[in-house]
Amino acid sequence: MNMRIRLIHVLLVMGLGLLSSCGGEQVGEGPIVPPPPAPDEYADKRMPADWWGDSQKLEEGRKLYVGEKNPDVNCASCHGKDGKPVKAGATDFRNPERMKLYSDSVWFWRISEGVPNTKMRGWKSKVSEEDRWKLVLYERNFALSGKTWDEEKKQWSEVGAK
Ligand code: HEC
Repeated sequence: MNMRIRLIHVLLVMGLGLLSSCGGEQVGEGPIVPPPPAPDEYADKRMPADWWGDSQKLEEGRKLYVGEKNPDVNCASCHGKDGKPVKAGATDFRNPERMKLYSDSVWFWRISEGVPNTKMRGWKSKVSEEDRWKLVLYERNFALSGKTWDEEKKQWSEVGAK
């Protein structure tokens, strides 16, 4: 009898734990934690300054992202065409609270080298440096449209707001 009550108790606590861990967070995503800083070889890499407002580069980024330029490089197959993940665990690029924590160089580093022990592989062997920047340009549009990384302030700022 005692055992049974204990068991029910344990099940209840587990159930509640499950419920509360789902609430408030985006499905398939853990809590928002800042990414680690980019390692030295990436720390000084920056988006070319005149690319931020370049609609041509943005369109090239879109083509890369959806696999139109190279079917072997299809970010949308996991991250979704509109930045809403279609594969469990893929980062949701529509969430500004998360994405504003990534500087342009951290973003570039992650695309280049991937995230160890996850489905996110490094793309530097398949995607040129220029094309990786176009991908950053395109992805930043999902949550930080119209903003540029301000290295002095270490934050995303509206274009033109200095
Ligand atoms: C096979 C599925 C898959 C494909 C294809 C894929 N990703 Fe990912 N990506 C993931 C997953 C899973 C994560 C989350 C990794 C983690 O847990 O931090 C991720 C995370 C990321 C992140 C955030 C990294 C971080 O530090 O949190 C960026 C940026 C990213 N992907 C960009 C891209 C780009 C650009 C492409 C296309 C060149 C791409 N991904 C293709 C699965 C994928």
